[in-house]
Amino acid sequence: MADNIDTLLKESRVYRPTPKTVSAAHIQDYETAYKQSIADPEAFWSGMAEELEWFTPWKTVLEWNYPWAKWFVGATCNIAYNCLDRHVATWRKNKVALIWVGENDQERIFTYAELHRQVNRCANALKKLGIQKGDRVTIYLPKIPEQVVAMLACARIGAIHSVVYSGFSAPALSSRINDAEAKLVITADVGFDRGKIINLKPVVDEAVKSCATVEHVVVVRRQTPGPALSAPKEIDWHDWLRHETPHCAAEPLDAEAPLYILYTSGTTGKPKGVVHVHGGYMVGTYATTKYVFDLKDDDVYFCVADPGWVTGHSYIVYGPLLNGATILTAEGKPDYPTPGRWWDLIERYGVSIFYTTPTAIRLLMRYGEDWPKKSDLSTLRILGSVGEPINPEAWEWFHRVTGGDKPIMDTWWQTETGSILITPLPSVPLKPGSATRPFLGIEADVVDRQGNSLPPNAGGFAVIKKPWPSMMRTIYKDPDRYKVYWTTIPNCYTAGDVCHKDADGYMWFMGRADDVIKVAGNRLGTAEVESALVSHQAVAEAAVIGKPHKTVGESIKAFVILKQGEKETPELIHSIKEQVKHELGKIAVPAEIDIVTSLPKTRSGKIMRRVLKAKELGQDPGDISTIEE
Ligand code: WTA
Repeated sequence: MADNIDTLLKESRVYRPTPKTVSAAHIQDYETAYKQSIADPEAFWSGMAEELEWFTPWKTVLEWNYPWAKWFVGATCNIAYNCLDRHVATWRKNKVALIWVGENDQERIFTYAELHRQVNRCANALKKLGIQKGDRVTIYLPKIPEQVVAMLACARIGAIHSVVYSGFSAPALSSRINDAEAKLVITADVGFDRGKIINLKPVVDEAVKSCATVEHVVVVRRQTPGPALSAPKEIDWHDWLRHETPHCAAEPLDAEAPLYILYTSGTTGKPKGVVHVHGGYMVGTYATTKYVFDLKDDDVYFCVADPGWVTGHSYIVYGPLLNGATILTAEGKPDYPTPGRWWDLIERYGVSIFYTTPTAIRLLMRYGEDWPKKSDLSTLRILGSVGEPINPEAWEWFHRVTGGDKPIMDTWWQTETGSILITPLPSVPLKPGSATRPFLGIEADVVDRQGNSLPPNAGGFAVIKKPWPSMMRTIYKDPDRYKVYWTTIPNCYTAGDVCHKDADGYMWFMGRADDVIKVAGNRLGTAEVESALVSHQAVAEAAVIGKPHKTVGESIKAFVILKQGEKETPELIHSIKEQVKHELGKIAVPAEIDIVTSLPKTRSGKIMRRVLKAKELGQDPGDISTIEE
């Protein structure tokens, strides 16, 4: 297994925070704060909620009707109001809220007041198109400020946004639009990827052909001249906003009113529409951003995620804005135009908090330490990692090249959890490769299939034992699929991750227990990729596994049975890959395709992916007594 990322198990180093880090931290004594918080989680969470503004107060903090939770029951609020108006009413009015840097170094800067005005214009424009409270709006935009403006404008009027990552293809986009029954799609003519123009409008054109609910398509035209638009259905973003006033009162919404749907991959081919709500999600993202990143008013916070994924929702848009932060976001890849891109941005904008991914770190590692050395990184004080396990080698490298004294917050969480659940705080001693301990108010454990707590170092399932405010409320139009999370192991939330806890209670996440794979931190389902493969006319059957990969964590390997009469040729393999790209997008294309004549199956016909994986990795496949072929 030469290509494996190095193992997490052998790590034993401990990094203690510097006295400076501890004395600056909001929470200086995690153990005491944690004990207090879990002695009465409702008191902890309502304390956090009190730091935000509510139009009417709650009557009950938590109504737990297993497995259904309602938080801040009876309250009204609006997350966009808390992201903007709360700050505009103070000196933060003229503080920079958002710095955006394009791939070509174009720069756009929004103060809180300016972002507020833009969002209000967009909110008024949404209303003019007949978008009402509860209506769904699909946002299919590259990483540009309009993405943030559109999200907040929806929230402001109580419309539900569904952001779809702009790397998804037309069929993937249309299935998400149709599931949400969106009335409006907001898109752009193009995005950029390492200098290449990515045309998005044709993707939307193709997608909406099969979306009967879509009444309008708004297009941010970045090119001059941009593509022609066909009125009245298609509208130019700038024309749309031009005549709107910058005033639009935020809608008072029930704390449980849906804020957004975000589609994510599960074990079946159909993506799940994870639903988050205004009140609880606001409290969870606010509290975690404040304490995990130890956010202060003079910080410049740089998160490399795309708002197309949950990290962008919670830790570019909502969490940081709720805290009144200055956020840096940059279009493009870490190594374009050079591998010094991010280090250069850190120096240029004086970034103090830098939240990135293991895949990006491993990619930058390959280019060597000279690149970070070229930039002045002395403004950095806190680092973060998310999306997949970080191997100790990458952790050490990241720690070293950034000065050797900045704590790395390895944050474990999921689309479904809404906010970070297992994570260090800056004052907590770190062990490279471990996401350390639960966040305040969160009770976590490692258990067996029956829910019995396991002794230290025994591998099992990561579970959360009590509800928390930012947890998803349901899977859109599929409550049964929601229930599975809380019933797989009774009375707790099963994350789907394999994990062990060491003797100090530190949690070590090892990967998924199910058929979800993480390619460069992007979440994909094996079943989704398989169904894209079999949509090719030459493919009879397909099975997909995630294979350990040195840079991207996991890569996709497909095993394909061809239809009778089809021959394996390089052209055919290429055309199968193109088909996956067409069905799902570039991120889902298998790195390897093996043509096989049979697949291991159970008697009931289920493909045994774990057997394929074991064979691929030269491991013992375990119990194969149920195998048919
Ligand atoms: C994985 C991303 C180890 C995990 C925020 C989880 C991690 C899945 C970490 C959710 C981490 C995320 N260490 N694994 N720090 N963070 N994961 O929904 O397997 O895209 O279940 O949310 O990513 O992926 P999702």
